Amino acid sequence: MKVLFVASECAPFVKTGGLADVIGAVPKALAHLGVEARVMLPLYPALKKMSVKGQTVWKTPDLHGGKARLIHLVAEGLDLLLLDAPHLFDRGGSIYQNADGEDWPDNALRFGALSYVAAEVAANGVAGWQPDIVHAHDWQAGLVPAYLHQMNAPTPPCVLTIHNIAFQGLFAADLMEPLGLDDALYTQDGVEFYGNLGFLKAGVALADKITTVSPTYAREIMHPEFGMGLEGLLSARARDVSGILNGIDLDVWNPETDPVLPTPYSVKRLKPKQQSHKAVIERFGLTPPENAPLFCVISRLTTQKGVDVLLDVLPGLVARGARLAVLGSGDRDLEAGFVAAAHRFPGAVGVIIGYDEDLSHLMQGGSDAILIPSRFEPCGLTQLYGLRYGTVPVVARTGGLADTIVDANEAALAANCATGVQFAPVTPSALSHAIDHCCDLFEQPKIWSGMMRRAMRHPVGWETSSKAYLEVYDSLLGG
Ligand code: ADP
Ligand code: GLC
Repeated sequence: MKVLFVASECAPFVKTGGLADVIGAVPKALAHLGVEARVMLPLYPALKKMSVKGQTVWKTPDLHGGKARLIHLVAEGLDLLLLDAPHLFDRGGSIYQNADGEDWPDNALRFGALSYVAAEVAANGVAGWQPDIVHAHDWQAGLVPAYLHQMNAPTPPCVLTIHNIAFQGLFAADLMEPLGLDDALYTQDGVEFYGNLGFLKAGVALADKITTVSPTYAREIMHPEFGMGLEGLLSARARDVSGILNGIDLDVWNPETDPVLPTPYSVKRLKPKQQSHKAVIERFGLTPPENAPLFCVISRLTTQKGVDVLLDVLPGLVARGARLAVLGSGDRDLEAGFVAAAHRFPGAVGVIIGYDEDLSHLMQGGSDAILIPSRFEPCGLTQLYGLRYGTVPVVARTGGLADTIVDANEAALAANCATGVQFAPVTPSALSHAIDHCCDLFEQPKIWSGMMRRAMRHPVGWETSSKAYLEVYDSLLGG
């Protein structure tokens, strides 16, 4: 079976969040099941150098005002189709925003172009390769089924995966024409969303199957609290919606081989984790904790992630003798809040504003616990990295966090199955209670090391979920 993945990011080439990790890992997992997956991505400046080795397999003189071509190459074990359209993708800033943090004004055309070319490849093939299934991810690929829909020829079925329903790709309706979308699609059953053109809405309305990244989130988004206006449509399509939990790349995230860690460690040899612990303490300018955990946060700093609530409970965390290392970037106010906290609690709270892949590995390796107080979390990957590195996750009970962490309540402790701490709701009192509970557990070395070891043994790879994707594909091909 051949599958075309369509997405705006893919690790290790270009990443702003968990979407990239997933796109970089699933095709490899599917390959073990006999699926030949190709990933279509925009050719951003970061990919330019490697693209030189590729071959042009398709081109057009005009794609929204400039030349475009597709470059095929294999890199890092991934089979890639890079959309080279310099007028759309060859620019500084980030992949979605300019240097001032504003969305690129032509994002609709940029990602509309990605979706359009993907639909062309799906319908007509490219250099002798045609997918049996198109798998579109998030709003950036949401128009793929819309373009497929308006073709007069038979086209392969399309699966849409929602990684975060909060990002919908809403644009002015008068972009229908420049995007080459038929007027007939501008209806409630098509791409229209409250008077706008909705890219994600288009995907949800027109894809043959919809998946999201955890079973709990699949249920949550059918309700107004989480559905961001799409709950009605998703409920109406409930039979086509499923939640498939994310996994992680076990080769990239492995404490036994991670080149970033000063000394590797494993579930059987945990002691060397202390070397990483020391390195994190030093890197963040902290003093060693006093019989209490070193907590970390590795996150986008946004209200989704609930990190504002964490700011409120820092005095209690510090009073317990615990330490906190924060790596993140995002909302200016939250960044400033954490920088101020580091000044207020010198030696106890350390903050690095920025994005640093290597440092994130070191922190997973060296921290005792990872805090994830998200208000909503479709799946979340950092708690899975935490499990793999024996860094106990303290998580809000929502979305994929609820599905992946076994809370250390009395029953779970008695049954020896706890892997972390869950709390709800996302309020200062519930979070500070969870932090206290975590500190209490840490003070009981036998219980704590039991949790660490169970966490490390918890299966977090893609084995189960890649089979679930294959089942979705099979169901569409009549298998
Ligand atoms: P989301 O995609 O909503 O941001 P996930 O937990 O799914 O959340 O994925 C976030 C990914 O980005 C993880 O791989 C995490 O390690 C990484 N990450 C987040 N912030 C940073 C940062 N400041 N530096 C390095 N990696 C980060
Ligand atoms: C989104 C979600 C996150 C999820 C990731 C990958 O960015 O916010 O929860 O893990 O996509 O699916």
